[in-house]
Order: sequence, then structure tokens, then C-alpha cells
Amino acid sequence: MKILVTGGLGYIGSHTVVELINAGFTPIVIDNLSESEIEVKERIEKIVGKPIIFEQVEMCNKNEMIQLFEKYPDIKGVIHFAAYLIVNESVTNPLKYYHNNIISTLNLLEVMLQFKIKPLVFSSSCTVYGNPEDLPVNEHAPIQPAVSPYGNTKKMCEDILKDTALANDIEVISLRYFNPIGAHESSIIGEFQDGPPHHLVPYITETARGLRNELRIFGGDWNTKDGTCVRDYIHVVDVAKAHISAVDRMINNKISEKFEVYNLGMGVGVSVLEMVNAFEEATGIKIKYNITARREGDVEAVYADTTKANQILNWKTEKTLTDAMRDAWNWEKELMNNSNLI
Ligand code: UFG
Repeated sequence: MKILVTGGLGYIGSHTVVELINAGFTPIVIDNLSESEIEVKERIEKIVGKPIIFEQVEMCNKNEMIQLFEKYPDIKGVIHFAAYLIVNESVTNPLKYYHNNIISTLNLLEVMLQFKIKPLVFSSSCTVYGNPEDLPVNEHAPIQPAVSPYGNTKKMCEDILKDTALANDIEVISLRYFNPIGAHESSIIGEFQDGPPHHLVPYITETARGLRNELRIFGGDWNTKDGTCVRDYIHVVDVAKAHISAVDRMINNKISEKFEVYNLGMGVGVSVLEMVNAFEEATGIKIKYNITARREGDVEAVYADTTKANQILNWKTEKTLTDAMRDAWNWEKELMNNSNLI
């Protein structure tokens, strides 16, 4: 069964392509290569041991999308990852984010309707919950005004998808990721980045590697267990596997609402200092850190109630924080040995 994967050479997309193949699906991978490397295609092929179908497509160009669906008339569902995701950049260049993230989603929906394709899995974020009052946060928590244009595009896309699903023959599962970390255990794929990292764990691994003198921890005076911010870190392969559960639910007609949302996390709140300790314990490498001022726009604490995904998607995490840290470090070593990759 053919499943279209948009942004399939990105971080979560590439791990999901591997899991789709492991589960017997045939992914049609598209990417515009603006934020990803074509080498990821070969790397996925190395893991799965066979060629994959890849097309370089610009989703903001509707004609390219129509041509894609004409070329592959037997696509049975879509997983939509493709989006810009650098929070800071979205603040300085909001139009880039609104244009790309919204237009690509609108084009996809219009073309899905045209070609009568119903199931869509959307890549959303816990950013829609902002700074939640009740923890762990479940799917009924109120949606907060977004702190960044990036976060706003996730909220806007959810609204667009919900309205479209309610009015048309389309079904959507929106997966709200908490903090995906780590890499494939083979160290063949992981998070590629051009320039400085965008997330905590690559900052930790780059410090361990000696690329940085120290890790800056943004704030030690938060109202949390040790004063540092709390998040719900989840292994990227566990995130990837949830997409297979979502696709299974849709193609087996088990959907009960036309727009369903699920939190994807480990369900555990972990502080930044605990993350440093977890890395040190998993690898035996000491991390030099310095507690600095708070980072603007940071949420104090957010972690997931994952009951809904556990019970309805029949999905649960299999990897531990130690697994994630070990895999993140092995991936950093892979990047170190292949400096052409970044
Ligand atoms: N942090 C540091 N030092 C660093 C980097 C991060 O202390 O060098 C801290 C942050 O302050 C935060 C935690 O590590 O407390 C995690 O930060 P990340 O940047 O890895 O992730 P965020 O939780 O801030 O961001 C995530 C997603 C975004 C999303 C955002 C809002 O990555 O896509 O949540 O919910 F928009």
C-alpha cells in the first residue's frame, strides 16, 4: 500500500519512512530539499536494504502536486511532515513560515480532495498548549495563543485540517509531538542541521564532542524541581512508530471522529539538568554547563498525558531516555566522521 510522506527526508520523516517500510507499506517520499539532504535517501535505503521511491517536489507549487498524484494514482493515504520549524527564524521572518507551512497544507488538501484520498496524518506540536495550567497535559487542554509564528502555523494548520475534514470526505489524525530526540539505533540517520542546533540534545552532544566550550542552560530559577525547564523528551523512533499506528487506524476505518488529536510523549517531565545527567550516565562523558538567563518565549514545564494514544492508537513508547542519549551520541559521532554531512 502506497503512503505519501511529505518532508520524508527530514528528521522525523526519515525515521517514519523506515518504520513504514518495516511495517510493509510503500512510502512515496517527497521533499523539496530546502532543509534536508538528498543523501538521507541513500541512508534510508542502506537501513532498509532496498531502493525507495523519491520525488523532489515543491508543495507550494500546486501543479507539481497534481503531477505527483497523477504519477502515483494508487496513493492510499498521506503523512504530512513538510514544514519550516526553526522557532527563532519564524519570529524574524514570519512570512516565510506562513507562506510555506500554510500554502503547502492548502495545496495538499485541495489535491487530496481532487484525487479522492481520505486519510491524512499531520505533524503537530505540543507548542499549541503553550504554558499549560494542568500537568500532565491532555488533548482537552485549552489551545493557547502561539508564542511564535512557527507555533501559530501548527495551530492554523490544525484549524484548517479540522474544518476541511468536517466538511469533506477527508479524515485527519493530528499527532502533537512533545520533544523528539535521539536517532536511529544504526546511526545511519538522525537529525541533520545546517549551522547551530535548534534543540537541547544536539547542543549537549556538540558540547561532548568539543565543538562548544560549555552548554548554556537557559534559566535556573524556574518554578520546577531543580529550577530548570521541564519537557517531555521522546525517542524519535517511538514518534515514528506512532505514525504507523495512526495510518493503520485510518486505513482500517477505525476513526471515530473526522479530526482526531493525540499527544506523543513519554509522559514524564524531565528537567534540563536531568537531561545533562542522563547523557553523562548513558555515555560516561561529562558535560560542562553554565546556567544563564532565561530564553525568551520558553515554557516553564510541559509534559504529556499519553493515555489517549496508548489506549486508542494502541501505541506506547519502547525506548528509554538512556537509549535516546546513547543513540544521539552515536549519531553525533557519525556526523563527526562525515563532516560533509553538515
Ligand atoms: N535549552 C537549554 N540550552 C540550550 C538549548 C535548550 O537550556 O542550549 C533548554 C530550553 O530552554 C528548554 C529545553 O532545553 O527548556 C528544551 O529546549 P528545545 O529548544 O530543545 O525545545 P523546546 O521545548 O523549547 O521547543 C520545542 C520544539 C519546538 C516547539 C517548542 C514549543 O522543539 O518545535 O517546543 O513548545 F515550538
